[in-house]
Order: sequence, then structure tokens, then C-alpha cells
Amino acid sequence: MEDQCPALSGAVAGKIAPETEQNCIIEVPQPCGLVIFGASGDLAERKIIPSLYHLCLDKLLPDNFFVLGVARTAMSDDQFRKAMENAIRTASPRGYTDESCRLFTEKLYYIPMDYGEFSQYRALTDRLLSLEKKHNTLGNRVFYLAIPPAVYETVIQNLGDSGLSQEKSGYSHIVIEKPVGRDLASARKLNVTLRRSFGERQIYRMDHYLAKETVQNILMFRFANSIFEPLWNRQYIDHVQITVAETLGIGHRGGYYETSGVLRDMFQNHILQLLALTAMEAPALFEAGRVRDEKAKVFRSIRPFDLGRLDETVVLGQYDRGSLEGTDVPAYREEMGVAKDSLTPTYAALKVIIDNWRWKGVPFYLRSGKRLSTRKAEISVHFKPVPHLMFSQALDGGIAANTLVLRIQPDEGIGLSFQAKNPGSRACLNTVLMDFSYRNVFVLDDYERVLLDCMQGDQMLFARDDGVDLTWELLTPLIEKLEGESGKDNFPNYVAGSAGPRPAAELLRRDGRAWRPL
Ligand SMILES: NC(=O)c1ccc[n+]([C@@H]2O[C@H](COP(=O)([O-])OP(=O)(O)OC[C@H]3O[C@@H](n4cnc5c(N)ncnc54)[C@H](OP(=O)(O)O)[C@@H]3O)[C@@H](O)[C@H]2O)c1
Repeated sequence: MEDQCPALSGAVAGKIAPETEQNCIIEVPQPCGLVIFGASGDLAERKIIPSLYHLCLDKLLPDNFFVLGVARTAMSDDQFRKAMENAIRTASPRGYTDESCRLFTEKLYYIPMDYGEFSQYRALTDRLLSLEKKHNTLGNRVFYLAIPPAVYETVIQNLGDSGLSQEKSGYSHIVIEKPVGRDLASARKLNVTLRRSFGERQIYRMDHYLAKETVQNILMFRFANSIFEPLWNRQYIDHVQITVAETLGIGHRGGYYETSGVLRDMFQNHILQLLALTAMEAPALFEAGRVRDEKAKVFRSIRPFDLGRLDETVVLGQYDRGSLEGTDVPAYREEMGVAKDSLTPTYAALKVIIDNWRWKGVPFYLRSGKRLSTRKAEISVHFKPVPHLMFSQALDGGIAANTLVLRIQPDEGIGLSFQAKNPGSRACLNTVLMDFSYRNVFVLDDYERVLLDCMQGDQMLFARDDGVDLTWELLTPLIEKLEGESGKDNFPNYVAGSAGPRPAAELLRRDGRAWRPL
């Protein structure tokens, strides 16, 4: 029983799990051991462990598998298992049963350690080797750093120095959570440390956002259909909007957010990645290296922000007290761990220009904020209006241009608005919607997807060092300039539960455009 995942009788490494949807097959990874640094923390408890349990229930984990939790807190294997059982129960996952949870947590182990103490990596190695032998995982290892970024470099260096990064019998992968640096210099320094111990092929810089089904679908939609790609350029597209709006505030992560702000937290990774997927050229093959090459080309083509004229391209905001779904919520400056006079932005809207052949003259408007009226992430592609209005005698105003909306969350799907004649009338048009929804379709949760990918060695959904470099190269001068400005004395400048600061609307109005309503 020890080596069998609950409900995993059909899951054999290298074989294909049962089809979940037409043309949709998910491969079960090879045997492997997952080492989680920071196993006592929030991410392990809320995301990593419940996602592994789901994978186990869905028969997507190999039978030969174990988790070794590592953190400073003293805990026995049993105490760790109990804590993780509670975490799984709290996450109230689909398909939960006490028995399957108990069987899953039998594969969890724990070792306390001080990350800065090199001698303790010897004990870690010994424990790992003994578990690998017990579970017959063929030396395949994933090291997942779910620890504060300040400790990344210590752990990475010690993993390298102790030989744990070397690939002897099996693979050795390392997963780094965001943020990868807080500016260009720190990101480069971290990448240098990583590359000293691991090859780029072993490094998985996590952007869980990219693992959302609908984000992955952007490329399928663009390049597996022949009717959209011919229109996907400056000739037919007027502009593109990318929105990631959250209703949540910063929760208990005030300390982290104060050193980050929305540009580092959302734009450097998630939003610029969405932009790259929307704007990139078709690679010759759907393969990690080539997709990442094309994304890097987009980042290289983004026009640097004119730091002398930022009022034309950037709007920042910070939320004030307000109300969401009938509940009063505090201002950002009243949140736990936030300075009373904080100038950290919780909202940003940017106008981005891509200087290349395809996108010349097509602005990309990006916005993201916390405590907005709606939780929504979407990419909307706004097509140009028809060149000539032959209905002008019969219609009063103009007609709305077509809009294609790729909905990332919630209600994942795709909608295309177009004009249709109103039945009965002579010439009266209505905007109607053609809609596809992922509702009720089996989808892997984003953490489930990336955990599978780093066990399978698929780097498609992970950032490469040059991509990280280029996004920081774009944003670091902007962030430094804005952080050095005293002009943000208008903070807080939007009410929690609203659509964001007023000047954000002005950013588009000046160009004769408007944001899609939240
Ligand atoms: N939580 C999320 O939703 C989320 C989302 C995206 C990215 N991330 C990233 O994922 C990583 C982990 O996030 P988290 O929320 O789980 O963090 P966390 O709960 O604050 O910390 C994780 C664990 O790290 C250990 N730790 C804390 N301070 C430490 C220090 N100074 N030195 C060594 N160990 C320390 C603690 O365990 P011990 O005291 O037992 O050692 C803690 O349980 C971070 O890099 C974060 O930015 C988190």
C-alpha cells in the first residue's frame, strides 16, 4: 500500500491517463520525489499540497512518488502529515474522502533544517536518498522553493555546492516562485546564482497565471484556427485591452506588497506574459524554446516608456476605504503591515506601444488593480470599425466595432461580438454575442498544471532568463522614476469597490477610446 497513490490503480508512469475530454490526454509523469522548501508556509498549505492531492485523485501522479517537506519549524513526519491533512480538508477539494487523504499523506515526509547551515544539506541528501530508494523514484527530483525570496540565493547555492543540483541517475529540477527579483539588477543576480548551480533546462520560474487553461488557449485559438490570424494585425485591430481586476485587497501579505506594489506584483510577470501571448508571431513548432523565443521578441519590440512624459502612458492608484458586496473594507493604508503614509500603488494602467511590423499604431492598454468592483481577467481585442457605413440613412449613430474577448477568469471562455439585424425592422442593428464557455469542462487547476509540467520537464509555461531580463529592463526605469516621485500625494485616489482612479479613463479617452466596463 505504501507505494500506491489512492485511486491510482490505472496510473503507470509514462502511460497515458484515461481521456478526460476529446483530444485531451494528460501524461502521468515518471516516478519522482518533490522537495518543498517552506513546507510549513502558506503556499504549501493552500496551493501545493491540495493540488498534489487533486492530481492524485485524478490519477495523474505516478505511483512512485513522495514529498519531502523542508522548513525551519521543528516537526515530525506525523505532525507534518496531520497539518497537511487539515490543509487539504480546509481547501475542501472535490472528491475529498478521509481515506484517500490519509493514503495520500502517507507519502509525505518532513525534515527541519536551517537553510544557511551547509552541513545540514548532508542530512537532507541522506534523507532524500533513502526516500528515493524506498519509493523507487529513479533519482528524479524537483526542488520547489516556497520560501521568502530573500532566502532563494542561499538555498540555490547550497543545493549546488552539496551536489543536489547535479543530474546523476535522474533529473533535478528547481521551481522558483514569483517574484524573480524586484528590479533588473536583483533579477540578474538571482539568475546568475541559479545558473551557477543549475542549467537553464533545469530551471522552472513559475508564473501560475500562464497555467490557466484560458491563457494556454490563447495560442491554440490564434494558431489552430485559420480565420483569426489573418485579421490579427494593425490592418484590422484598433487596439487591445488587458485587464486583471481583483476584488481582494492584500490580505495578510501587507509586508510583501509594501515592497512590491502592482507593477512588480502583476505587470512584470502575469500581464506582460499575457501581452506577449497576444502579440507574438507563430513559432514553427509548439515547443517551449520556440514559444519563449517569440515571446522574447515581443518584449524586445516594446517601446521604452518616455520617462519625461509618463502622464501620457501611466496612471497609478491606491485604494481608499469603500464597500464591496455590501461589506465595508479598509483603505490600503489601514491594512495590516502597511505604512500609514504608504505610496505603494495598488492599481496601474499603462499604454504600451509595440514597435514592429504587425502592431505599428495599435496601442495595448493594460490595467490591474486590487479592491476593484469586479474580479475579472480578460484580453479584449477591439477591431476597427467598418470602413464605410452603408446604413447611414437608416441608422442614427455609428455601429459598434467587433470585439473579441478572451476571458481568463471567471467564466473562462471566448466571446465575439458582432452586428446582427433586428428581426422585423428594416435596418436596425443589434450587437449580439457568439460565446464559448469552459464551464462544466474538466480543467486542471493552474497549480496542478505547473506541478505536472515541472515533473514532466515541460518548460512551456515557465519564464526563461532572457524573458525575465527583458520585462525588468522595460519596467525598472519606470518603477524607479515613479518611486522617486513625490507627485503621488494624491493617494489614495480610488474608492474600494470602484472601477479604479478617474485618470485611468482619461488615458483612453484622450485616444478616443474607452475601457471595457469591469
Ligand atoms: N502564498 C501565495 O499565495 C503566493 C503566491 C505567489 C507566490 N508566492 C511566493 O511563494 C513563496 C512562499 O510564499 P508563502 O506565502 O508560503 O510564504 P510564507 O508563508 O511567508 O513563508 C513560507 C515559509 O518560509 C519560512 N520562512 C519565513 N521567513 C523565513 C526566513 N526569513 N528564512 C527562512 N525561512 C523563512 C517559514 O517556515 P519556517 O519558519 O518553518 O522555516 C514559512 O512557513 C514566496 O516567495 C512568495 O512570494 C506565494
